Amino acid sequence: MTNREPTPVVPRPQVPHRDLLQLEVLTDETQLRADITRLRLERNAVILAHNYQRPEVQQIADFVGDSLGLSRQAATTDADVIVFAGVHFMAETAAILNPGKTVLLPDLRAGCSLADTLTAQGIRDWKARHPGGLVVTYVNTTADVKAESDYCVTSGNAVQVVESLPPGVPVLFAPDRFLAAHVIRVTGRQMDVWDGACHVHEAIRPEDVQGQQAAHPDAELLIHPECGCSSRILNAIPDLQLYSTEGMIHRARASAAQEFIVVTETGMVTRLQRDVPGKTFIPVSRAACCEYMKMITLENIRDSLLTLQPRVTVPDAIREQALKPIERMLAIG
Ligand code: 13P
Ligand code: SF4
Repeated sequence: MTNREPTPVVPRPQVPHRDLLQLEVLTDETQLRADITRLRLERNAVILAHNYQRPEVQQIADFVGDSLGLSRQAATTDADVIVFAGVHFMAETAAILNPGKTVLLPDLRAGCSLADTLTAQGIRDWKARHPGGLVVTYVNTTADVKAESDYCVTSGNAVQVVESLPPGVPVLFAPDRFLAAHVIRVTGRQMDVWDGACHVHEAIRPEDVQGQQAAHPDAELLIHPECGCSSRILNAIPDLQLYSTEGMIHRARASAAQEFIVVTETGMVTRLQRDVPGKTFIPVSRAACCEYMKMITLENIRDSLLTLQPRVTVPDAIREQALKPIERMLAIG
């Protein structure tokens, strides 16, 4: 059974194009890096970047990782200021874990189409139709939605969290229907699933994967569970593993393969090339680009450190309720 309320239409901003060959831009970038290094020390700030960030942002970050790793870093940092090079729900998660710290998101328009598919009222109505059900939400949700949830999960630990739930209790899983299908396939647990998806991963088609496989027959597939293609590909290759973005790093290191087709957002290729040198990583499609993630730039990180704006805060009442499912997420996997 699926549930869905109308998805709000969120205008997707255009990402400005930079010509890296212009000397002026390179000079600016050197200055920007120097400014960021100085301000970071002055502010006692840490820069946390998601694996989908621009290459130059990943390069200056203190930590680059997946949603779970970033939440763990946010939970343990002793910095006074957290600059989140990611999207809004990630900065909110950091703010929930750190009420005393300043959490900055350098561009507040950096949202998430998947998080936009679900509201707190939507969850309340859903729970009312399934009394006694346990609500498991992907970390790609707003703080209001987390406050209505029993457990949060990331792609890195969704299977383990669902496996840990008491048997015989209805499970309501939201908002990503492709991740839900993966969890049901692995755990065998039946769940009521919200009909949400990420516009970037949903648009990756099995034909994109097959086209790259034909061009690179020896390449191994690294597929993220948010992908729209995952269910159809798994029908053809039932024992294929799916990986969170950090899981892809571990798999690429451990595998004997030299070439990999990276079936997720293109920024992941940057991270893989840097952390697993000597192997080749092929993006499944250049079109698989999250314009929200790419809104964070060296310029707005510098400005954010300078002005300590824009800040992301969560009202206390919501924060207290949202903390429990996040802590459960951090405890597992
Ligand atoms: P992970 O980094 O947790 O695998 O999630 C991918 C994603 O889409 C984050 O927005
Ligand atoms: Fe959200 Fe998709 Fe972008 Fe991740 S890639 S932040 S799920 S819109």
